[in-house]
Amino acid sequence: MDRLIVKGGNPLRGSTTISGSKNSALPLMAAAILADSPVTINNIPALRDIHTFSRVIALTGTRVDYAPDEHTIRIDSSNLNRPEAPYELVKRMRASFYMLGALLGREGRARVSLPGGCAWGPRPVDLHIRGMEALGAKIELDQGYVIANAPAGGLPGGSFDLSPSSVGATINFILAAVRARRSSRLGNAAIEPDVVVFCELLQKMGAQISGVGTRTIEVQGVDGLNAVSFSNCPDRIELGTFMIAAAIAGETGVPVRFENAYPEHLGKAFVHAFNETGASFNAGDDFVEVSAPGTLRAVSIDTGIYPGFPTDLQAQWTVLLAATEGNAKIRETIYHDRFKHIPELRRMGVNAIVVGNEVAVEGGNRIQGAQVMSTDLRASVSLVLAGLIAENETSVLRVYHLDRGYENLEGKLSDLGADIRREQYDEWADPE
Ligand code: EPZ
Repeated sequence: MDRLIVKGGNPLRGSTTISGSKNSALPLMAAAILADSPVTINNIPALRDIHTFSRVIALTGTRVDYAPDEHTIRIDSSNLNRPEAPYELVKRMRASFYMLGALLGREGRARVSLPGGCAWGPRPVDLHIRGMEALGAKIELDQGYVIANAPAGGLPGGSFDLSPSSVGATINFILAAVRARRSSRLGNAAIEPDVVVFCELLQKMGAQISGVGTRTIEVQGVDGLNAVSFSNCPDRIELGTFMIAAAIAGETGVPVRFENAYPEHLGKAFVHAFNETGASFNAGDDFVEVSAPGTLRAVSIDTGIYPGFPTDLQAQWTVLLAATEGNAKIRETIYHDRFKHIPELRRMGVNAIVVGNEVAVEGGNRIQGAQVMSTDLRASVSLVLAGLIAENETSVLRVYHLDRGYENLEGKLSDLGADIRREQYDEWADPE
């Protein structure tokens, strides 16, 4: 198993490049299945989750050529013959559940495993399933699998309103609706940039979708979708993570630059809160520059659906608050219990207390290097950020969580001057 060793105290400077977005790459790959001939997608990140989803798609008989070094993927579903997604793979990555809408939309039938549990409390897929039923599918649950069948002649289409708004349920509904016989409408749809980019690919393939980026999406079903080439957008959560790293570990007034970055994908709430900390933020069409202030101000936030403050940046924001001299709070409104990083940060001396869906963070405390355990993707990157500003060395264990969503994290941080390295370790070995 791998761990990351971070030696704190090196100021970050210089520039690095943001990779393609994980959370838009996954729905783009699902959308590609709906075409009758090959779809090529560029700017695909080199990540474990992309490998996993490539295997899920390949198991259906679809040809998947994923070239991580070239950041491209080519998906040809012309020989798809097995509309299934097995538990063994779906349990590794929830987004595999996008296969429900993709296979139902393309084949009129699907057998897809329900995703497993999640550390942050219940993450049901009831809205995904009810969306399929609203489109006219017959749904049965059988031994942990969702069995979905369209009536003869294909899905008729239909209307559905989401509550709460859901990124995944929006994507699954559209995947099934674009090749339905008639028109469909989705209310309270998600408007996250990942959803917009996903719709843009489908439109380029010939899909009839209107209201993209608004809460009401209308889809007019079409018979077939065409082969295209498409470029994925940069990863806004990776960008936000690096902006926080620069704000807490940058040299006062010295800009750190991020290339291949779309600042508008960050959402108003994050940009507002970031500016309130006193960190300076300068942006162009495809780059962002951050300069650390002399003193960071503590700014409380509530997470929310886009353009609200991304829940995928709240763990990282906890570390920013710990790096200030003040006190502030984070209220998590999307998930019940997304605070698995707190006990690990406390091991490093961070004073943070969770009460219900809030965490109160007291800044101004010494942050010390320690051995800490990754629990999930965003929690683990917050431990690396804390390691950048901690005294001595931090050892972040089980970094396979990180590899799911951050491409070459230690390489990019080293490019910015951080003292960080990856090494193998035996988790079960007794201490020397
Ligand atoms: C997407 O998950 C992202 N994953 C998550 O990022 C992100 O945290 C989340 O959106 C919110 O922004 C991907 O894009 C692959 P939701 P998703 O459906 O689609 C409830 C990361 O770190 N809900 O918008 O699963 C749900 O429980 C990952 O990269 C239902 O109640 O999120 C949650 O409280 C982690 N019933 C809320 O809606 C449903 O059927 C929002 O979830 C579906 C969702």
